[in-house]
Amino acid sequence: MDHILEAIGAAEGAGRIEGFGELPVPESYRGVVVRADETAMFDGLATKDKDPRKSLHMQEVATPDLGPGEALIAVMASAINYNTVWTSIFEPMSTFGFLQRYGKLSPLTRRHDLPYHVVGSDAAGVVLRTGPGVTKWQPGDQVVAHCLSVELEDAAGHDDTMLDPQQRIWGFETNFGGLAELAVVKANQLMPKPAHLSWEEAASPGLVNSTAYRQLVSHHGADMKQGDVVLIWGASGGLGSYATQMAVNGGAIPVCVVSSPQKAELCRRMGAELVIDRSAEGYRFWRDEHTPDPNEWKRFGARIRELTGGDDPDIVFEHPGRETFGASVFVAKRGGTIVTCASTSGFDHHYDNRYLWMHLKRIVGSHFANYREAWEANRLIDRGLVHPTLSKVFSLEQTGQATYEVHRNAHQGKVGVLALAPQEGLGIYDSEKRARHEEAINRFRGV
Ligand SMILES: NC(=O)c1ccc[n+]([C@@H]2O[C@H](COP(=O)([O-])OP(=O)(O)OC[C@H]3O[C@@H](n4cnc5c(N)ncnc54)[C@H](OP(=O)(O)O)[C@@H]3O)[C@@H](O)[C@H]2O)c1
Repeated sequence: MDHILEAIGAAEGAGRIEGFGELPVPESYRGVVVRADETAMFDGLATKDKDPRKSLHMQEVATPDLGPGEALIAVMASAINYNTVWTSIFEPMSTFGFLQRYGKLSPLTRRHDLPYHVVGSDAAGVVLRTGPGVTKWQPGDQVVAHCLSVELEDAAGHDDTMLDPQQRIWGFETNFGGLAELAVVKANQLMPKPAHLSWEEAASPGLVNSTAYRQLVSHHGADMKQGDVVLIWGASGGLGSYATQMAVNGGAIPVCVVSSPQKAELCRRMGAELVIDRSAEGYRFWRDEHTPDPNEWKRFGARIRELTGGDDPDIVFEHPGRETFGASVFVAKRGGTIVTCASTSGFDHHYDNRYLWMHLKRIVGSHFANYREAWEANRLIDRGLVHPTLSKVFSLEQTGQATYEVHRNAHQGKVGVLALAPQEGLGIYDSEKRARHEEAINRFRGV
């Protein structure tokens, strides 16, 4: 890998690194994997006791051949997403089932069905090779990759690529993901790397920024408009830190929910004024495992009205799931929207349907982002309208620890991982633009 790193290090600016395509492709590379023969290792343990440090391994893997429309990227940095938490604890199911199903699709996809799964759904790096038919991108291009993998052979996905029946999340439902020195993507996952950001900063927004964009801003999601009151769960976390910035930018009124004074401070740094510390205020939406507590929904709703001057949320940005969903449906405004993309605390939701139908509320399901939405979300980063929320950076060897911290909710914003990049702070080619946003880019650092 040294020759690759040397060539990237010698780059003098953003754009294409000349001669990169002539560099030999290594036969193997180091990637972070889970192993098929270890999927039962946590059987019988509670979710919180399943330790990603035990199941994520760094190992040498063979570099796959490239198929039509694909690109091999030299990964400088990646980031931890919650999907790597799910993969590493084999919940709600092992990801090897995804790889086996994908492998049955064609001789080309069979490459993905292996006894190891290279994980990771974010990357910033340089295109090393492109497969047949790729014209927009060339070796040497400095890129970030979004994680939407689609086959696009079916008309169902031609208007909104998320509706493709063969829609998958790269590095979760496909192999050869971003937590590695090299990664294979479909070339239409590539987007220009923002020149004012370091590799690890550029790698960190991808998945969550795109998801928050569809979920909150896009007409496929909540279609947020100026003046909307937006209740954002986990507002300083991965998804929430981008949703908060989009709400502030879009002239909406975010009501940020977090669980500590430090996290509340991060929300204020992003420009949010209304913040609820759910730990300090002690909300318990469930009396016991089976019994929700509507009095607590009401107490929560009253607190939101107190902060907003009487308004209920037009939009509830949901992802904690079982723990909070009943409260989310209750507090949404008459005619409001609860938009959900996840169920971190459990997918078996409970809510009182009377509040939904009588008050004409809507529940909208949202998942990642289509090609266009991912591109628009990256454009916001590139233009300095939304900033990375990177708090801490680990080496590739420490990916298990990085994932463990996200699993334990011991992190802020995004957690980065250096792949080929030997240190933080490399890859910045537009210092002037960076200087304008330096403070915002560093909001989450070291908190
Ligand atoms: N469908 C998709 O495309 C998609 C995309 C990205 C993520 N996701 C999913 O969305 C979820 C969140 O992802 P993320 O990257 O934002 O994770 P994250 O960085 O861990 O942030 C989630 C935040 O949610 C809050 N939270 C966690 N458990 C909670 C609970 N029981 N009640 C209330 N708040 C709770 C925490 O904030 P406080 O402790 O400060 O309240 C935490 O910071 C994960 O399940 C992930 O798999 C789905």
